[in-house]
Amino acid sequence: MHKKLTLSRKKTFNTGFGMILTAFLLIGYFSLVSFSEDTPENNEDPNGEPVENQSLDTGEFTRTDLRMGERLFKGLVAFESGTHDCSSCHYAAPPDTMNWNPSAYELARQWKMEDNYSIKEKLKSPVGVRMINDHEGMRITGEEEHRLFAYLAKVYEEGPGELRAVPVNAFIFWGLGILMALALVDLLITRKIKVRAFHVMILVVGLVVHMQYAVAESRNLGRTQGYAPDQPIKFSHLVHAGEHEIDCNYCHQISSFSLSAGIPSNNTCMNCHTVIREGTNSGRFEINKIHQANESGQAVEWIRVHKLPDHSYFSHAQHVNAGKVECQDCHGAVEEMHIVMQTEDLSMGWCLTCHRDSSVDFLDNPYYEIYERLHQDIREGRIEEVTAAEVGGEDCMKCHY
Ligand code: HEC
Ligand code: HEC
Ligand code: HEC
Ligand code: HEC
Ligand code: HEC
Ligand code: HEC
Repeated sequence: MHKKLTLSRKKTFNTGFGMILTAFLLIGYFSLVSFSEDTPENNEDPNGEPVENQSLDTGEFTRTDLRMGERLFKGLVAFESGTHDCSSCHYAAPPDTMNWNPSAYELARQWKMEDNYSIKEKLKSPVGVRMINDHEGMRITGEEEHRLFAYLAKVYEEGPGELRAVPVNAFIFWGLGILMALALVDLLITRKIKVRAFHVMILVVGLVVHMQYAVAESRNLGRTQGYAPDQPIKFSHLVHAGEHEIDCNYCHQISSFSLSAGIPSNNTCMNCHTVIREGTNSGRFEINKIHQANESGQAVEWIRVHKLPDHSYFSHAQHVNAGKVECQDCHGAVEEMHIVMQTEDLSMGWCLTCHRDSSVDFLDNPYYEIYERLHQDIREGRIEEVTAAEVGGEDCMKCHY
């Protein structure tokens, strides 16, 4: 009798556990499937034909053009001059590291922008070291060019694409959520699993993890530590401020007397790039963009990286000039970055911590003469130095209007 009871309990325990495990695996499977939606294969209909695109509708290119163009570009079929995998340099999907070569999308955009653009001619009479070296032996016919254009038209319509990280956190969050719901249902209604500790364990662990996510998310709301967007021109601080040791102030000169550090205008770039027409890493393509912007009179649309909320006030001059704080203390080793990244969280706590830790040039700055008590404390040896926090660096009004 006693033995039988434990046996059946074990059995219900196993079915319950099996149910939950199956549910968990199913969620995993469906989330993976839905996250890999936009792989190239899925853009084809069941007959293996690519989805409609505008150029096909207007009759400029046929489906065969498009299919062959893509295969030529990806090195799957040979050009008359041999097999060349253009996509090994002109990448079709966004890379997760710095890639200096123009992407397939950028080639497409250039073709749309430039009158009488001819791949065939560019390959036949290359200008510049990289153009010559990288395309050695690559000659294409008029028909092949037409097919490449068919492919580039599709790439152009699809846009540059986005780098997608696998959403591990979302998976854990939702997975746990569903597991908790199942545990709750079983605890209150179905009662398949008799061991209560099991439900309690799932609920407690689930709640703790969910709370942690909630706290982390709300703390980072509106904050963008680690943000490093791709810029319209592959401008590298490592190349300029690092390798070529150009002073930060050459381009951000207003930082010493204004609130903002400013982003250099096209003219600043042209000071050097009227003469320097080719980069070691990128060839002419990126530097050409400066010249194109110059000719069209359109400013380069740099994407802003660091941004405080509007309710707070920050002055570069105050820090760089008066405080003698180094750019790197707040922005990290920018001269080692190809792509600028926000290294600090720019939170209020970050500002205050530094103000409490930094001493100011108290005795020699006439600006601080009004702090009579602090001067007296120093004279009488009660304190040795004065921190930024003590001279107003903690007053709400200094940072908030
Ligand atoms: C080894 C890498 C590499 C391969 C392979 C390669 N390219 Fe390039 N390509 C480059 C680089 C780098 C540039 C930029 C050079 C420059 O602007 O000086 C470039 C530039 C170009 C340009 C000129 C862009 C412009 O508007 O100025 C065209 C067109 C082009 N490639 C087509 C092709 C085609 C078509 C193939 C395949 C048949 C191919 N490339 C294969 C590296 C490569
Ligand atoms: C040759 C010109 C040049 C020099 C020299 C230069 N920068 Fe820049 N800087 C730029 C340009 C252009 C941008 C905008 C594009 C970008 O974010 O990469 C920029 C962006 C930045 C940003 C990000 C701005 C934002 O949007 O939040 C920081 C921070 C920065 N620079 C710091 C520095 C520091 C520190 C140095 C010296 C070590 C330096 N820069 C040297 C041209 C320059
Ligand atoms: C005390 C910290 C600190 C120092 C030192 C500092 N920055 Fe900044 N920087 C910031 C903050 C904070 C922002 C965002 C400002 C905002 O959104 O109002 C910023 C923004 C920028 C920007 C974006 C454009 C702008 O002006 O808002 C550039 C470029 C920049 N800094 C460059 C520099 C350079 C170059 C130096 C050194 C000469 C420097 N910074 C020194 C904290 C600092
Ligand atoms: C004080 C001179 C100077 C200024 C100002 C300057 N550059 Fe440069 N730039 C250089 C030098 C030097 C190189 C390296 C050329 C090489 O690789 O031989 C370079 C290279 C480049 C490259 C190619 C990098 C590579 O390795 O392929 C790009 C893109 C570029 N600069 C963009 C810009 C932009 C955008 C601006 C304006 C915000 C700018 N530069 C301002 C001197 C300057
Ligand atoms: C790396 C250290 C550091 C960081 C980070 C920093 N500060 Fe400062 N700050 C200083 C120093 C040093 C001074 C004193 C400058 C002087 O001598 O006047 C100062 C002064 C100030 C003042 C002037 C106070 C007065 O006496 O009038 C303001 C306002 C200010 N900071 C705002 C900010 C804000 C807003 C942030 C965050 C976004 C920030 N600071 C981050 C070092 C820092
Ligand atoms: C040294 C500059 C500085 C001082 C002094 C300062 N703040 Fe802030 N504060 C900031 C910055 C920068 C932010 C925005 C960054 C962030 O998200 O924390 C901020 C954000 C805030 C926020 C919004 C928080 C949020 O999550 O949106 C409040 C409220 C606030 N501060 C209140 C105060 C009060 C009250 C004081 C005086 C006791 C004070 N601050 C003093 C720099 C300062």
